[in-house]
Amino acid sequence: MKPIQVGLLGIGTVGSGTFHVLQRNQEEIRRRAGRGIEITMVADLDVERARSVVGDQVQVVNDARAVIANPDIDIVIELIGGYGVAKALVLEAIAAGKHVVTANKALLAVHGTEIFAAASAKGVMVAFEAAVAGGIPIIKALREGLTANAIQWIAGIINGTTNFILSEMRDKGLDFEVVLKEAQRLGYAEADPTFDIEGVDAAHKATLMSAIAFGIPVQFDKAYVEGITKLSAADIRYAEQLGYRIKLLGITKRAANGIELRVHPALVPAKRLIANVEGAMNAVMVQGDAVGTTLYYGKGAGSEPTASAVIADLVDIARLHTADAAQRVPHLAFQPDEMSDVPVLPMSQVVTSYYLRLSVSDEAGVLARVTGILAGAGISIDAVLQREADEVGGEGSTHTDLIILTHDTVEGTMDRAIAEMQALPTVLAPITRIRKEELA
Ligand code: HSE
Repeated sequence: MKPIQVGLLGIGTVGSGTFHVLQRNQEEIRRRAGRGIEITMVADLDVERARSVVGDQVQVVNDARAVIANPDIDIVIELIGGYGVAKALVLEAIAAGKHVVTANKALLAVHGTEIFAAASAKGVMVAFEAAVAGGIPIIKALREGLTANAIQWIAGIINGTTNFILSEMRDKGLDFEVVLKEAQRLGYAEADPTFDIEGVDAAHKATLMSAIAFGIPVQFDKAYVEGITKLSAADIRYAEQLGYRIKLLGITKRAANGIELRVHPALVPAKRLIANVEGAMNAVMVQGDAVGTTLYYGKGAGSEPTASAVIADLVDIARLHTADAAQRVPHLAFQPDEMSDVPVLPMSQVVTSYYLRLSVSDEAGVLARVTGILAGAGISIDAVLQREADEVGGEGSTHTDLIILTHDTVEGTMDRAIAEMQALPTVLAPITRIRKEELA
């Protein structure tokens, strides 16, 4: 059978990796796919650079629409990123009857409903393994390997930049701003790291996993998103003293009255494997009712790890594109007419436990008043840590840090208790609240 022909839009880091891995492993890939897979056309604004990657056997153009218009191209890989031109090109490729492979988590998390509907109407596949956790085949695992399960929750370290920063903060006892600058200098963080450090990138990925796990539409706008910019070295140290590590987690969970979808820093017991995922690595825990807890670990970014995911999608399409569309694995794991409208819960209804740090006057009755407010709200305390004032504020200091771990409570209840504690004259600074996930 003649090789399936692929057109590539954007040949940066991931595109180059895809081209090289396809070339290097072409024989193995052909034996698996049942036919060859060849990138025969590339569009990139920097034609010279593109040509230096692919040589002169591949047609290089600077107009992505020329790839989409080429009737010989069966699959379009979109590696441009963002919601702007990438969205228009993906929709045009679908309209032209091309299958699409994309690593674009932002595009699918925000516009997925429109894109998957267009693809279904046209009978083409939109595959996106590379959009979540890079080289880790988590989409395949959720959509196919775990298909027997009622998924209960997913918790993932799904942003390498922030995990690298948090690892450095813990190892070196440094504050966020210092480590961020160093990460940028070393090339671990982008010049504009906003999407990573504010949790947006992780929320895009969590949104996609949520849809696949629970059969709900992609709803990035309903995700709670909190990044790592406000974390201090002190909180990381106190967490450690209490037996926890702080990780930026993307969480989605089936609750009694809806689906939780949230990204925020969280204390995780240090003994959990996921708490020991360091540097730029990613890991995703999935809890299913039949399988129990599973854990997937690997590189969440980078040229060839992400290419590994892109090519897995190409192979899937090469195998399935002649099959009846109804027989293929649905884009979001559930049949499109079987999607659920169970709501994504507002953060005020989420149930979790908490780490609180209060900067307080070191005087009689302070602890009693604080714990009295928590008791009055029905919030049960799990542990309390108070350092000597001298240790916190220097010799002769009259203030200290009071650290409280709570048991599970509803976020809205905790919001009210924090407001009440904050109003105490003996609470000297804004209270720090970090959620805690036992992941048991
Ligand atoms: N910027 C992401 C990260 C990789 O740091 O993990 C691409 O999603």
